[in-house]
Amino acid sequence: MKILRLLPLLLAAAASTTFAGEHVYAPYTELYVRECASCHLAYPPELMTAPGWKRVMSQLDRHFGSDASLDTPTRDGVAAFLAQRASSREKHAPSENSARISKTVWFVREHGTAPPPKISFANCSACHTRAEQADFNERSLRLPAGFRHSERD
Ligand code: HEC
Ligand code: HEC
Repeated sequence: MKILRLLPLLLAAAASTTFAGEHVYAPYTELYVRECASCHLAYPPELMTAPGWKRVMSQLDRHFGSDASLDTPTRDGVAAFLAQRASSREKHAPSENSARISKTVWFVREHGTAPPPKISFANCSACHTRAEQADFNERSLRLPAGFRHSERD
């Protein structure tokens, strides 16, 4: 009987776990989704280091050709979430000033440097069909015709 009363708690605990081994990165805060998933999907914070996210958050007024500026409290809230969940592994460090996930050592090793024609590597959903659910597990990959990533070449 006791276990039934515990169940909601257990479910809540499970929901807040990041299954990095499975490449599932949910859940995100409401704030993060509201502010950072209107032009593109919410990128997993775990796929870049804290200095990388800091760089992204410090130049939102010139954000990859867009103006993604936020007021200071909102910006600080998003920045804190990203810093808290950021990777601490060097392979997730940004390799250029604009700090793209798609240019980190890890990403390039996993994906190569040449996306298929007319597809940006920033558009994760083009291949990861459950990316909107923060699920990047290999099972949900659908590769565009002709795309072969470098790892297997
Ligand atoms: C006004 C639209 C807009 C908003 C809002 C926005 N972005 Fe972006 N973002 C873009 C565009 C455009 C790109 C470039 C996409 C491409 O290269 O195809 C981009 C790219 C990125 C990239 C690099 C993707 C890669 O190639 O690895 C990151 C990281 C990123 N955004 C994070 C954020 C974060 C964090 C927020 C919230 C603070 C945010 N974005 C809000 C428009 C936006
Ligand atoms: C053009 C297709 C394509 C796009 C776009 C793409 N990926 Fe991938 N992704 C792949 C392929 C192929 C693999 C390698 C799977 C393997 O190891 O066999 C992969 C692997 C991954 C993995 C590791 C999954 C695993 O099971 O090993 C993650 C995490 C990931 N991608 C995240 C992203 C993110 C984040 C973006 C967007 C910034 C993105 N991908 C954009 C095709 C793509």
